Amino acid sequence: MKMQIQFVEIPPNQVKSTSPLFRMLQHPVFAWVGLRAPIAQHTLAEHQALMRHARTASAIVEIGVAEGASAAGLREAMPADGTLYLVDPFHLSRIPAFNFLKRAARRAVGSAGSASTVWIESFSQEAVRDWKFPIDFLLIDGDHREEAVERDWLDWSPVVKGDGVVAFHDARLFPSGWPTPDYGPVRFIDRAFRQRPNNGAWSIIEEVDSLVFVSRRKLS
Ligand SMILES: C[S@@+](CC[C@H](N)C(=O)[O-])C[C@H]1O[C@@H](n2cnc3c(N)ncnc32)[C@H](O)[C@@H]1O
Repeated sequence: MKMQIQFVEIPPNQVKSTSPLFRMLQHPVFAWVGLRAPIAQHTLAEHQALMRHARTASAIVEIGVAEGASAAGLREAMPADGTLYLVDPFHLSRIPAFNFLKRAARRAVGSAGSASTVWIESFSQEAVRDWKFPIDFLLIDGDHREEAVERDWLDWSPVVKGDGVVAFHDARLFPSGWPTPDYGPVRFIDRAFRQRPNNGAWSIIEEVDSLVFVSRRKLS
């Protein structure tokens, strides 16, 4: 992995996270100007798993980009002639004219890998409306409400190729991890895949920290 990224630490470093300087530096403006590395909302093990699945994927869609840490890993790992589609409305900026989160994401993704990148600045439910491209690898990490995770699944899984993979973030409890049983992705995965191990040909193929990977592939 070439790019410097601040990963989620497990167990969390309480001393570091309560310091006022640390909290100030969380603002994305500092990533945009290059004073700190992009902040990931995932662990190093999750990042490595995402990169592993990206390696053979020519068309990747990420729903929920934030500072671009996971997107940078996907672009770095995927084939250079592939395309990375990044879906995020970047709607949470307090000063939309500056939108430092979006600027930080563009900087992070732009400095990782060389695959084509298509930025889709809209909500996933709007982006899918006229979607035409078969997807090899889909990462669902946008709106975390249970009904929104289910909507992303129902909207996007039909355009994933037969041997493609869908990853859900924040979807699994793990030792010292942050998800709780009431997290939307955790509840959705429990309902759709753990209680129905063969959800129309789809089943869980891998789990890494809070990430759950599903596919129609047969496990060998
Ligand atoms: C948890 S963060 C993504 C973290 C990122 N994948 C990473 O690991 O570095 C969630 C992001 O989803 C975006 N988001 C929220 N609702 C969305 C939706 N319906 N469609 C696409 N993106 C959405 C938010 O703007 C936010 O940037």
